[in-house]
Amino acid sequence: MLGNFIGATYIAAGLMFILALAGLSKHETAKKGNAYGILGMVFALVATNFAIGYVDLTAGRPQWSSAVLLYVAIIVGGAIGVWKARRVEMTGMPELIALLHSFVGAAAVLVGFNVHLAVTHSDVVHSVEVVLGIFVGAVTFTGSLVAWGKLNGRLASRPLMLPGRHWINLAIVVASVGLGWWYVISGSIIPLILVTVLALVLGFHLVAAIGGADMPVVVSMLNSYSGWAAAFSGFMLNMSVLIITGALVGASGAILSYIMCRAMNRSFVSVILGGFGDAPVAESGELGEYREASTAEVASLLGQARSVVIAPGYGMAVAQAQYPVAELTSRLRQRGVEVRFAIHPVAGRLPGHMNVLLAEAKVPYDIVLEMDEINDDFPDTDVVLVIGANDTVNPAANEPGSPISGMPVLKVWEADQVVVFKRSMSAGYAGVQNPLFFNENSVMCFGDAKTTVQQILTEL
Ligand code: TAP
Repeated sequence: MLGNFIGATYIAAGLMFILALAGLSKHETAKKGNAYGILGMVFALVATNFAIGYVDLTAGRPQWSSAVLLYVAIIVGGAIGVWKARRVEMTGMPELIALLHSFVGAAAVLVGFNVHLAVTHSDVVHSVEVVLGIFVGAVTFTGSLVAWGKLNGRLASRPLMLPGRHWINLAIVVASVGLGWWYVISGSIIPLILVTVLALVLGFHLVAAIGGADMPVVVSMLNSYSGWAAAFSGFMLNMSVLIITGALVGASGAILSYIMCRAMNRSFVSVILGGFGDAPVAESGELGEYREASTAEVASLLGQARSVVIAPGYGMAVAQAQYPVAELTSRLRQRGVEVRFAIHPVAGRLPGHMNVLLAEAKVPYDIVLEMDEINDDFPDTDVVLVIGANDTVNPAANEPGSPISGMPVLKVWEADQVVVFKRSMSAGYAGVQNPLFFNENSVMCFGDAKTTVQQILTEL
């Protein structure tokens, strides 16, 4: 009876997680999606609470010790989660996500060893689950820690290019398969420990070889790995909710990685094999002269415009400029100017970053357009305001040999006039200088984006 209740609650939790993913795929339903996710997690915790009591009862052990451990873990974990979530800036989200993936990886390794120590090894399938769970978990653990270090600047974002690095990776995988086989036939802990060490090295080496410009895809790929690690833990623990959730995370992370690779015109395999973002970068002096415009000049330009497109990027998030940008939008719209937003799929530092910021500032959804929806409209646009964006509007992507070569970008330079808001002439995330800034129809409006947009509002 209790077993049925637990099973049904786990399935209900799985359904909630599916509804959460469906909700999160659209602005309008994102809040509802989050609510489903929270509800699913509550269901899963309640059922696990009963499951622990149930399992212990059949094992003839007292229930309270496991329950106390569970509650202590929930309270400590929940408190750290709330503390972290309240403190994190939107711009620090990817590194927090990377750190959380490393926890999932570490948990999968610990579950694997726990299952090895607690269960007798007669079952081949079970032994394979243990090896795979530990292998994927350990790769996820060190890979995510390196991604976290690269994203927050503790580690250099330059790719680590060891000679023969592909052979090193291949050798580790082949050795791990051999050790896994040894474990399955012997049940000895020695190959398990060796697989763990090799997988930890592989995770470190794989992600260390990937340059800063590919980090978004790597975080999403590690998200997928963490899902598969959780699913393996679910198989080891015979826990349907972990299998469902892990598979959902694993599959959605893989799909997201694919979408991001397509947005950057990179093949998934070339991202995983690393080395991107290491090409030589042109000095700004080689690109000619740029022109500067004051906020008063930009305001007068906007005063004459009939159609304006705003291309926001990471700098808008750093400056928290979305509120004055939203105010500028509504002021221009009141004057009859057509204002639209052009959102590049990897603008900012995580998928949907710009959409979240604009929604937060109450910019209407219907004027926020994806790259493909607006890229052909730039020739009919009077003024483009590039607010804290750089790589995503860089025409160098159309030149062979550039580190961002082939990445689809917003063709803002096709508009009559482009105004670039940034603080200096420094390069964007990929470290590539931007020829857009030196075009005849471009002007630079230097300063913190929030302050400059506020000044333009005053001038208007
Ligand atoms: P970036 O290329 O990073 O450029 C942002 C620009 O904002 C910089 O050139 C910077 O110039 C400017 N900036 C910074 N702080 C500012 C402030 N307070 N006020 C005004 N300007 C400021 O941004 P992007 O165009 O959004 O491109 C995103 C890049 O990040 C891509 O290379 C992408 O691959 C990568 N990435 C994306 C993701 C996802 S999934 N979205 C995740 C990780 C990485 P100054 O320093 O001169 O001000």
